[in-house]
Amino acid sequence: MRSNFGRKAVLVAALMASTSMAQAEDVEVLHWWTSGGEAAALNVLKEDLATKGIGWVDMPVAGGGGEAAMTTLRARVTAGDAPTAVQMLGFDITDWAVQGKLANLNDVAAAEGWDAVVPAALQAFSKHDGNWVAAPVNVHSTNWVWANKSILDELGIAQPTSWDEFVAAMQKVKDTGKTALAHGGQPWQEATMFDGVVLSVGGVEFYKKAFIDLDPAALGSDQMVEAFNRMATLRSFVDDNFSGRDWNLASAMVINNEAAFQIMGDWAKGEFLKAGKVPGTDFLCFRVPGSQGMVSFNSDQFAMFAQAEEGAQAAQGEMAKAIMSPTFQSAFNVVKGSVPSRTDVPNDAFDDCGKQGMAELSEASANGTLVGSIAHGHANVAAVKNAIYDVVTAQFNGEYDAATAAANLVSAVETAK
Ligand code: BGC
Repeated sequence: MRSNFGRKAVLVAALMASTSMAQAEDVEVLHWWTSGGEAAALNVLKEDLATKGIGWVDMPVAGGGGEAAMTTLRARVTAGDAPTAVQMLGFDITDWAVQGKLANLNDVAAAEGWDAVVPAALQAFSKHDGNWVAAPVNVHSTNWVWANKSILDELGIAQPTSWDEFVAAMQKVKDTGKTALAHGGQPWQEATMFDGVVLSVGGVEFYKKAFIDLDPAALGSDQMVEAFNRMATLRSFVDDNFSGRDWNLASAMVINNEAAFQIMGDWAKGEFLKAGKVPGTDFLCFRVPGSQGMVSFNSDQFAMFAQAEEGAQAAQGEMAKAIMSPTFQSAFNVVKGSVPSRTDVPNDAFDDCGKQGMAELSEASANGTLVGSIAHGHANVAAVKNAIYDVVTAQFNGEYDAATAAANLVSAVETAK
């Protein structure tokens, strides 16, 4: 039996450890990485920080695209209790920076040479007024299709290279009674499919005119009607129970041979990997047919909220430094399904889909075919993004036809911007 003195010593040591951690080394992290693949990637981050003595206080808020997480964040900031670090996308970062709520990471950025290795498309969101306010942990892209290889092989379906081939492939699957397209009926998921569909219809020029410039003529054009027609085609290939389904459950349908395809960002790959599936053997990854050579990207960044205490500030700097290290970028993104947010990370550890993603990101960046994701906050501020969600979802659910959707898009965007 341990003596009284021994017990007291253990207690005091434990108290000291927890106090010192709470004062100096904890980071409270708000995020929406709650699926199996996402949690696996999050663990890579937690464990990396633990080796540096940084404690983790978890604040998960489920919901792809991060809408629910952003609602929770607003409540926390309003209550004067902002978390230390927050997973955030694109224009949301700018929004908080404009409100003066974010910390300044210039010292760590300068010491670590971020300016030279983070692509300009990401810096546009990581920096505000020339100051670093967020650390990008990855680059995802949304115009991907995930396919069950054994279903395709069984039916003699080759990887589709054009929109028409894709539709024919889905029809062939549907004819056998299987679900052709696994989909979760949530606005952000419909919008994610829309990213790739818009690119497949009109390329980056049309995408930019409509969704970056918000040109009413492009928003209401025949090409936009065609994009909505393609969404209606996709709707005809989903199963009856799609409403409200989470994205990872749709991925599971492809993983478990219940469906042939899913159109989803490359976080879906994290689910396949978590289930022990191998690209090229069990599943295929390819760009939404018609959008080859183009990349609609979104980057998860950790926006750091200004903290009064020095210990918290130090922990933020350490966290930012840790997530930007090349070895961490490789280890994390291999599991997450994304690609590194810095240009100097070797691709050796990545699988074929990851290698393809890395190569296509740098090609698209060089060729001017890299665009910010509409669905994931890299094309517009939240109000415009949400207005687009509303129209895309209403049309997908049959509330109105493609021509009406294009007309409604013009007015919805006009009101929101
Ligand atoms: C995030 C991904 C995440 C996905 C689904 C996206 O907005 O960028 O990191 O895996 O939502 O939750």
